[in-house]
Amino acid sequence: MILAIETSCDDTCAAVVDGARILSNVISSQDEAHARFGGIVPEVASRSHLELTVPVVEAALGDAAVSLDGIEAVAVTTRPGLIGALLVGMSTAKALAAARHLPLIPVDHLQGHVAANFLDPDPLGPPFLCLLASGGHTLIAGVRDREGHEILGQTLDDAAGEAFDKVARMLGLGYPGGPALERLAAEGDPEAFEMPVAMARDPGLDFSFSGLKTALTYLCRDLGPEGVEERRADLAAGFQAAAVGQLTSKLKRALKRGDWPAVALGGGVAANGALREAVAALCEDAGLRLKLVPGVLCTDNAAMIGSAARFAPRLSFPEYLDYDARPTSRPPLPA
Ligand code: KG4
Ligand code: ZN
Repeated sequence: MILAIETSCDDTCAAVVDGARILSNVISSQDEAHARFGGIVPEVASRSHLELTVPVVEAALGDAAVSLDGIEAVAVTTRPGLIGALLVGMSTAKALAAARHLPLIPVDHLQGHVAANFLDPDPLGPPFLCLLASGGHTLIAGVRDREGHEILGQTLDDAAGEAFDKVARMLGLGYPGGPALERLAAEGDPEAFEMPVAMARDPGLDFSFSGLKTALTYLCRDLGPEGVEERRADLAAGFQAAAVGQLTSKLKRALKRGDWPAVALGGGVAANGALREAVAALCEDAGLRLKLVPGVLCTDNAAMIGSAARFAPRLSFPEYLDYDARPTSRPPLPA
C-alpha cells in the first residue's frame, strides 16, 4: 500500500494504490488561481500547494479508507517540474515518511505518465511506445520494462499543450485553452489556411511547435482583430490539424523504427479527440494495440506516481532526508 504525492506543476494530487489497484486518486486543480494570468505562475503554484497538500493527502487517505498505519511507503514526484512546487510535495512526503520511519520512493514525473498504463483496469505491460503530450512535455518514450523508459524524441521548444494554450489565447479563449480550442476547431475548415509542417524534413523523432505558433501569430496580425473574430474556427481547425499531424507523423516514424506491438497515449493533450482518432487509425492500419487510459489518468495525478513507485528503488529512513528535488530529469552535476 503506497501513499503517493504529486505537486510538480499546478495540480495538487495525492493517491493511495495497492499494487495495480487505485484505492483513491484526489486531484485539486489550481486552474482558477492561474486563469487570470493566462498561464501558470510558478510562485502562485507553490503557495497553492502549501495550502492544499495536507487536505488533499487527508482526502486521499479518507477516500481509500486507510489510516497512515496501513501505509507501507510514501512515493513522491521529485523531478522534473517547477522546483518550488516539487519542494512542497517532497517536504510533505519526507515528513510523513520520516515520522513513521517509512521508506520514501522518489519518482520521475515522466515515468509516472508512462506507469499510468500499468494500472487497473486492463493494464498494458511493456514493450510499447508512449506518446506523451502535455502542457509541459511532448515526447515519444520507448518502454521496454516497468522500471524506466527511453526518450526517442522530444520537443525542441514548446510543448504541444503549451502551443494549444498560447494559440487559444490569441483566439480569445480562456486558460487552459486546449479543450476550448478543440471545440472551436470542430466548426472550422482545417484547410482554410496553409499551416507550416514542422520538422517534416528532419529525419529524427523530435518535435517543434514554436514555428506553428509563430505562423498563427502572423496570421492573426495580418487578419486584424475583426478578421480573427470572423475566422477563429478556421484558424483553430488549421492549427489543431497541423499539431495533430506532427504528433502522429513522428509517432508513425518511431513505430517503423522498432518492433512495437502497442501504443499508449498520455498527458493532457491525449484528451484531444482529433489526436485520439488519428492515432487510433494509425494503430488499426498497423494492427497494433492502442491503450487509452481514462482522462483522469492522462492528466497529472498521483495514482500514476504510485504506479511508477512500485517499480522504483526505495530509500530507507533516514537516507532520504537530504534527497533533493530537481527541475529536470537529467542527472545532477558532480559536486
Ligand atoms: O497533463 P496536463 O494536465 O498538465 C501538464 O502536465 O501540463 O496537460 C495540460 C495541457 C494543457 O496545455 C491543455 O490545454 C492541454 O493539456 N489539453 C488539451 C486538451 N485538453 C487538455 N489540448 C488539446 N485538446 C484537448 N482536448
Ligand atoms: Zn504531467
